Amino acid sequence: MQKTIVLPTQRELQMQQDIEAITANATRKDLIQVLQAVQEKYGYLPQESLRLISKNMGVSRSEVYGVATFYHQFRLDPPGQYVIQVCMGTGCHAKGNADNYEHLKVLLGLKGDQTVTQDKVFSIEAARCFGCCSLAPVVAVTDSTGEYRRVYGSVDQKVLKKIIAEHREKAQNQESEPQRETIVCQRK
Ligand code: FES
Repeated sequence: MQKTIVLPTQRELQMQQDIEAITANATRKDLIQVLQAVQEKYGYLPQESLRLISKNMGVSRSEVYGVATFYHQFRLDPPGQYVIQVCMGTGCHAKGNADNYEHLKVLLGLKGDQTVTQDKVFSIEAARCFGCCSLAPVVAVTDSTGEYRRVYGSVDQKVLKKIIAEHREKAQNQESEPQRETIVCQRK
């Protein structure tokens, strides 16, 4: 009887190397930092990366998965090209960011639990305080690598439309602006 051997793909081999490097010398107490480093590398936590983390660190898969799903900062699905993060810190929440989040979903045509647009240009996330509460309510836009970041203050429905239009145009032009941070404050 013939045996079939399935060889790992180039991507799987690369991931094995990446996770090996990230988990080298890491112990259980480093699990959050390890997950952060993997997410920084891939933009999210692929299922295979969770399996490798568990294997390399000797931590059970349910524990790795439990930590990855407990914290809002971790993504288990690939994000859109631009990630719109809506601050849900106390100051921003009090100034209307829960409504902004819902309005954003409507503007992007996201239904139910859907967080990524069909064309994969945008994904949305509820985020923690960005530390610029005086500009509340605040929304930040990053790209999937986290190298591009722009923060918008005093956000209302008009600003949300502007954010979407601006980044849709960038996506169409395939623009990237690495390591740039701008505060745009829309005073009323
Ligand atoms: S509460 Fe939103 S930036 Fe601080």
